Amino acid sequence: MSSSIDSCTFVIFGSTGNLSRIKLMPALYQLDAAGQLPDNCRILATGRRPWDRERWLSEVREMLQEGVKSGVDTEVLKRFESRLDYFLGEIGDADMYVRLADFLARQPDVSSNIAFYLSIRPAEFGVVTESLSRAGLLKEDNGWRRVVIEKPFGYDLESAQALQIRLARFLDEHQIYRIDHYLGKETVRNVLVFRFANVMLEPLWNRNYIDHVQITHSEHFGVGSRAPYYDGAGALRDMIQSHLLQLLTLVAMEPPVSMEAEALRDEKVKVLKSVRPIPANAVHSHAFRAQYGAGRVGGKTVKGYLEEDGVPHDSVTETYAALKVYVDNWRWRGVPFYLRTGKRMAEGVSSIMIRFRQPPTQFFRDTQIQQMERNWVVLGIQPCECLRIQLTAKVPGLEMQTREVSLDAGFRDQSDVYADAYEGLLLDIMEGDRSLFLRYDEVEYAWRIVDPILRVWSTERDFITSYPAGSWGPEESRRLFDRDIDYWRHSLKIAT
Ligand code: BG6
Repeated sequence: MSSSIDSCTFVIFGSTGNLSRIKLMPALYQLDAAGQLPDNCRILATGRRPWDRERWLSEVREMLQEGVKSGVDTEVLKRFESRLDYFLGEIGDADMYVRLADFLARQPDVSSNIAFYLSIRPAEFGVVTESLSRAGLLKEDNGWRRVVIEKPFGYDLESAQALQIRLARFLDEHQIYRIDHYLGKETVRNVLVFRFANVMLEPLWNRNYIDHVQITHSEHFGVGSRAPYYDGAGALRDMIQSHLLQLLTLVAMEPPVSMEAEALRDEKVKVLKSVRPIPANAVHSHAFRAQYGAGRVGGKTVKGYLEEDGVPHDSVTETYAALKVYVDNWRWRGVPFYLRTGKRMAEGVSSIMIRFRQPPTQFFRDTQIQQMERNWVVLGIQPCECLRIQLTAKVPGLEMQTREVSLDAGFRDQSDVYADAYEGLLLDIMEGDRSLFLRYDEVEYAWRIVDPILRVWSTERDFITSYPAGSWGPEESRRLFDRDIDYWRHSLKIAT
């Protein structure tokens, strides 16, 4: 089996790191298994460890054992290994890029379409790009050159702007692939199809019918071995600025003129631009932060954040963040969007929950029906990939009583192929499809939304609310809701 995609070469920086181990190498292997890698696709790992090709291959075998859930096939592995090579060099050493250019030019079967994948510390994005450029590796004279940049793109608005200025000196925007793996998730891609391939919901998809929207990403995991990065970032940067605001754009955007990258991204940016700025004196009514303490998760006792390895004992970094924003445009004015994320929560779930308004008249007031639940549209992103529409129906019998029923659609049949988010995105990089990658203005406007909150939080360093690991976060975060009757909806299922 071979792919119809142009030949290409991947050059991976940070190939021995966590991301490469857990996601990239398994995803590239899976693409090979699915016949999606072009015949002469080569994958060159750069690294500073004094390894040779054989040693790299044994490392990759280990990565695949862990990362390929369906098991590694001997034939595919043989083919995949024939694509791999290891190139020794230090990221900060200018000479290594000259050697790299020379190496690539001398390989007869290496394609000159090259994707440089920067799976490295954000502080190194600039220097690697500059060095690639100085070595002539970003010139598109006889093939495309693309640079894939992992998040975070900047640490705040100012640093994102500075990084962009630096990159723009060496790269054209069409060469930059700012990756947000969240956008590669099956249900996230499905939000667009759900909204724009079905007419049924479109007339209801606005402020006249929708009461509010909740977007949640909760995790069982704690900070693990990532404290050095995480303690400097916190949940607002790590999940909300980078991923959840992107989900918000997909829920709120206007239909684009086409599904072509620029048309799609134009509409997403318009949403971000329409978000009402949060002034410093409104930060507390729009944002909430907290940190996990010790607790029990999955039946096991776990440490609190401050006891995790590498976390300073007086850290006030948030592991839980909740945010309320308003999209001030014709469609959404007055509808709150609530975004929340947390580590060490009761469940690991990602979902978009859309709550509809109450019917205008309470027809059933004089019956046994006291309080009618409102309708919800629930989109499960993970672990359950599903769509549920929750409606009210009469309970059979002589009395007028109601109960909630749900129209359920799983997005995945047993026979459907499971593809990790990275697989689809790597394919998009090879095909030159940037629709699910972030354009710079998207990143910038997302920073503009969270920057005022980060600034206020950075001055409040004496105290942070705590929640027990294994819980749904602090009750106090309910203060973000506009009305007392509103609540965080945790479960995709109907409450009975
Ligand atoms: C990453 C964050 O971008 O996304 C992590 O840095 C988070 O902190 C992860 O755990 C969540 O994504 P997923 O695909 O693992 O649910």
